[in-house]
Amino acid sequence: MITGSALPLAVVALDPAIEEALRAAANRFGTPCYVYLLDQIVERARYIDQIFGNRFEINYAMKANPNAELLKAIEPHIAGIDVSSGGELQLALAAGYLPKRVSFTGPGKSLEELSDAIDSGGGEIVAESMAEVSDIDRLSVNRGVVTRILLRVSPQCVPKGFGVNMAGRPSQFGIDEENLDSALAQLHEYKGIHFSGFHIYAGAQCLNSDSIIENFLNYIRIFTVHAERHALAPEVLVFGGGIGIPYHPGDEPVDLAKIAAQLNPALDALRARPNFTMARFMLEIGRLLVGEAGFFLTTVRRAKHSRGREIRICDGGLNNHLAACGHFGTIIHRNYLITRLSDPNRSSASATAEAFDVFGPLCTTIDQLARQLQLPALDCGDVLAFHSSGAYGFSASPMKFISHPCAKEIILSGSSAVKQL
Ligand SMILES: Cc1ncc(COP(=O)(O)O)c(C=O)c1O
Repeated sequence: MITGSALPLAVVALDPAIEEALRAAANRFGTPCYVYLLDQIVERARYIDQIFGNRFEINYAMKANPNAELLKAIEPHIAGIDVSSGGELQLALAAGYLPKRVSFTGPGKSLEELSDAIDSGGGEIVAESMAEVSDIDRLSVNRGVVTRILLRVSPQCVPKGFGVNMAGRPSQFGIDEENLDSALAQLHEYKGIHFSGFHIYAGAQCLNSDSIIENFLNYIRIFTVHAERHALAPEVLVFGGGIGIPYHPGDEPVDLAKIAAQLNPALDALRARPNFTMARFMLEIGRLLVGEAGFFLTTVRRAKHSRGREIRICDGGLNNHLAACGHFGTIIHRNYLITRLSDPNRSSASATAEAFDVFGPLCTTIDQLARQLQLPALDCGDVLAFHSSGAYGFSASPMKFISHPCAKEIILSGSSAVKQL
């Protein structure tokens, strides 16, 4: 046992109403499960609209969370949805999104996927290479239609602070900024495409507000220079946000107010330029919209003491939540923000801190949910809530690995309504 003074408690507090709702969901539906707080997602969408003064329209990147009920529920609160596969395209249409609200990114789209996107008569296909422009053109000409495309640009540099960089280095995404002039000069050769604008998504999970601002200003520079040089009037500009959310103890949320205060005048200046008067500015985000509104719940199934360490084994693990185990976009594992959903009748105020190594049920050493998690106690039957699990949780996990049952997904809306999916 390690005493409280040697190892300070790091209990992550939750709003009591949310904690109660999570506990109720775990009791009613069982664990492992994901719980999504719909009201928080809607609130976040409203806040983004408000803070940017509606300069941006939200384009939700479905890859963050493609849950069908969630897609339906957020539909009235966002402008568009970005899909990255034929499967996601079908999900968007099934959830009631009009085709013209759907954009389609992805560096390796098949001819079948491109054909389906063209036939859906939808929004823009985001062309990630000139070879793809050629394919879209040929498929469109064969059908006697003209398809709206955005050219995805891979900037030459990405500011420091992004957890994952999709640009600023050799990349499978988009057209290198260095080659954009020659790409734009070729566009008039294609009769089956209509250039609708540019798309940039250069990096992910940035918590540094200054870096996010610098990144967006770089996007604006690229849009301006190239549109004006080639006498283009984009109708759509996609600003792939890369705005991060807190996952780990010590992570500070980004300062959206600061970002907006600096970006809004820059967006107004862009809008004032003759080539951009008609352009829609789309903020393409995933985790910022849905990430913090999601929790992963798992119950401790076994407790053991092994060679000086307290080991706890839960009913959910990396098969349900790959990212919490540190195997999705991170090099080193850091514990997620985790709350033990305490039994209200159990007081732990005076308990000394212990450190727990928390594992999932899989037969692999990498199935570790938390290292040296500091809590007053962690017993069989206790439920752990992993915060920031609404994005890249359920859908980014290898649920079939070792054939345990899939985690359930539950949407909470309002104070009491619980819906099992
Ligand atoms: C093209 C594109 N847009 C948007 C996103 C959403 O990113 P995030 O969830 O970090 O906001 C991604 C994520 O990989 C992406 O690839």
